[in-house]
Amino acid sequence: MFSFRFFSLLICSALLSLVSAQNWYTVEWDAPTFTAMSGDMIVPKLPQPGGTPYVWPGVQSGNGVLQAVLDGRSGTWWIGDGFFGTPSLPWGNGFNVNPGDTVHFTFSLSGTTWTCTLSSNGKSASTSLNITGNTMNRAIFAAELYDVPFNFGPIVYRNVKITASTPASQWCGGIAHLGSYPFTVSGNTASGNTCNIASITQNNA
Ligand SMILES: *[C@@H]1O[C@H](CO)[C@@H](O)[C@H](O)[C@H]1NC(C)=O
Repeated sequence: MFSFRFFSLLICSALLSLVSAQNWYTVEWDAPTFTAMSGDMIVPKLPQPGGTPYVWPGVQSGNGVLQAVLDGRSGTWWIGDGFFGTPSLPWGNGFNVNPGDTVHFTFSLSGTTWTCTLSSNGKSASTSLNITGNTMNRAIFAAELYDVPFNFGPIVYRNVKITASTPASQWCGGIAHLGSYPFTVSGNTASGNTCNIASITQNNA
């Protein structure tokens, strides 16, 4: 359902780049194994109609990506949790949100089960996913856009916490990204195995 970056880049370079405009704008951290992530997403403006905009925080392995996807295909924003990859699992729960809303999201791992929660303005959703065979080694904040220009930003996250199985001092300061666009990450500090990030701002390309 939702594109997974490894697949997308392959498909894109093979053929889709000829017929559809697909663009990625990300901020990313890498660690051997992520075990939890949480934060507040400020819902951006609605993109122009007609394309397929996905905006999400998530954690990715070599086999798939666990995401809280803000989906704007229908002309309104809907946010829901799910895993795209192998194993193939049904998409999880969510609700509609409006620009300016704050959505608190959490992902946490116990055994092979990821518990995902979303809450905003009295609405809440929870999804439990048994994701075997996936070591999540990348934490991603993405705008994944098909035939939609990135002119509906900024996309803002606050109070982000990313936890790995290894000390955050080893990876909290290493920030990667996809796409040519202005973004800022402020107040990223390591505390034990958790990287606390005061804010991430992804501005229009
Ligand atoms: C998760 O799935 C695996 C593989 O199907 C299964 O062996 C295991 O019991 C499941 N765990 C839970 C908590 O359901």
